[in-house]
Amino acid sequence: MNVLLIGSGGREHALAWALSASPLLHSLYCAPGNPGMAKVGTNVALDVTDHAAVIRFCGENNIGFVVVGPEAPLVAGLVDDLTQAGIKSFGPTRYAAQLEGSKGFTKDICRNNNIPTAAYERFTALDKALAYVRERGAPIVIKADGLAAGKGVTVAMTLAEAEAALRDIWDGRFGEASCVVEDFLEGEEASFFVLSDGVNVLPLTTAQDHKRLGDGDTGPNTGGMGAYSPAPCMTPALTADALEKIVKPTVRALAAAGHPYKGVLYAGLMLTRDGPQLIEYNARFGDPETQVLMPRLKSDLLTLLLASADGTLDKMSVRWKDETALTVCLCSEGYPGTVKKGSPIKGLDSDLGVDVEVFHAGTATKDGVLIANGGRVLNVTALGKSVKEAQARAYSAVDKISFAGGFCRRDIGWRAS
Ligand code: AMP
Ligand code: GLY
Repeated sequence: MNVLLIGSGGREHALAWALSASPLLHSLYCAPGNPGMAKVGTNVALDVTDHAAVIRFCGENNIGFVVVGPEAPLVAGLVDDLTQAGIKSFGPTRYAAQLEGSKGFTKDICRNNNIPTAAYERFTALDKALAYVRERGAPIVIKADGLAAGKGVTVAMTLAEAEAALRDIWDGRFGEASCVVEDFLEGEEASFFVLSDGVNVLPLTTAQDHKRLGDGDTGPNTGGMGAYSPAPCMTPALTADALEKIVKPTVRALAAAGHPYKGVLYAGLMLTRDGPQLIEYNARFGDPETQVLMPRLKSDLLTLLLASADGTLDKMSVRWKDETALTVCLCSEGYPGTVKKGSPIKGLDSDLGVDVEVFHAGTATKDGVLIANGGRVLNVTALGKSVKEAQARAYSAVDKISFAGGFCRRDIGWRAS
């Protein structure tokens, strides 16, 4: 089978790497891909916002399956348009992707189905939102309603911060002005991934990422500076709880609404004293969590993703290596703000050690030289018998790679090691 993978980040390199090992695969095309993905597939310069062009490409290249990596094409309805054109694809429809695209949509599903989540209200008027936060007090959490690339959430420890966050939203930074205001939850955060075919849910595994820029989980939020899997805090009992009380009721609710959820569902959880509570859903694999899921996966990824599209997940099981995977993101100077691009990357050809895999994120090739070309540049991933071993292997590889202005956190995995 020929497969087209949409995306160009570290997540997509990890997916491409796993897909390329499938016995079902004939050719893998990546649109637009990155230099790492070019080693396991063929990069194609397709404008993925032009759905007609994607459909045309599929016809011309006998594509049997399209795997959508990032959220933007899902929210833009790429899966809907491919399905209408008779092309099988992995990922939710535009409607179902609202689980990620709209905080309000997800909160309403939680409220209507008794799914544990922070108490909340939705607002479309600034004065009402201000009155609510003043009445509720800090700490309190403000969430712009819509895709904001992970930057639409303010955990306000003071009332002044909460008010400033609301004013920002109504200044139009996130397009249409509406928001969710919710109670602050205390606990450890963990991510839980499942596949859904609309009816059946197949639990995958767990992970934890480090969102803050600085060591010790300090500084501004980022897309993720590193991750590890499995998450030791997600005991089998907590995982079962999250599956039965959070994920399954969500999948049932969407099916009942006539919009079955197909694809990977990524639940961001807070493990509170009262059990797991939903912080957010993502309608796609995590980045950089996928870079630690794929090296642990023993089953065939393509078979699993096809079963999600075909509605046959009830016949599937999934096997994982009994090891920990840990990834460290190497970033460009300036990340998560404006970054310096263009530095040549050195050391990737050296011996990086056993069980190490480097996934490319923001890289490019210029005049035959690999350069840093984005905020998160490389994801250096290692497997180990423990978090400590995976951590030691990953950092030993990190120390052999360099580019001008490159930096990383030195403590990925600290909570678990
Ligand atoms: P989200 O985009 O909804 O995942 O929020 C981004 C981050 O904000 C989460 O990973 C949490 O660290 C934090 N956060 C979100 N909602 C809450 C909440 N209700 N209580 C405490 N922290 C939260
Ligand atoms: N690492 C967080 C995310 O993928 O949303």
